Amino acid sequence: MKHKVATTVNGRRHEHEVEPRLLLVHYLRDNLGLTGTHIGCDTSQCGACTILVDGKAVKSCTMFAVQAEGRNLMTIEGMAKDGELHPIQQAFWDEHGLQCGYCTPGFIMAAALCRCTGYVNIVKAVQTAAKTMSATPAKKATVTAGGN
Ligand code: FES
Repeated sequence: MKHKVATTVNGRRHEHEVEPRLLLVHYLRDNLGLTGTHIGCDTSQCGACTILVDGKAVKSCTMFAVQAEGRNLMTIEGMAKDGELHPIQQAFWDEHGLQCGYCTPGFIMAAALCRCTGYVNIVKAVQTAAKTMSATPAKKATVTAGGN
């Protein structure tokens, strides 16, 4: 038996009928086409699937889609605004903060683990983002659900 789930994702309202056992990460990827949220381990360890739920980092492989009813979600696709990357995204771009790149959305949404071990540029990217966001109040971006 399917259940209705209504959410706001990256500022857009969505409503679907879903199986109660459908994981939120699969809902985002398969129902909404938001494939920036990755599945790394599927066992709640890696963080590649991290999104924001009402402004708090959540591993979307640990939550059912129906639990997102009435919540504000933000995925990696919701971080850029008006064609401009979020300062954290920009810093990862500028510092080449990745190795294979699969975990990058998880790193940007919240701390995640990377099995590639290429942490040097990732650390540089985080430091650059922190510097940019603290030095430029206008650029000081808050990462909140709903695309704000
Ligand atoms: S896929 Fe690894 S924590 Fe969710």
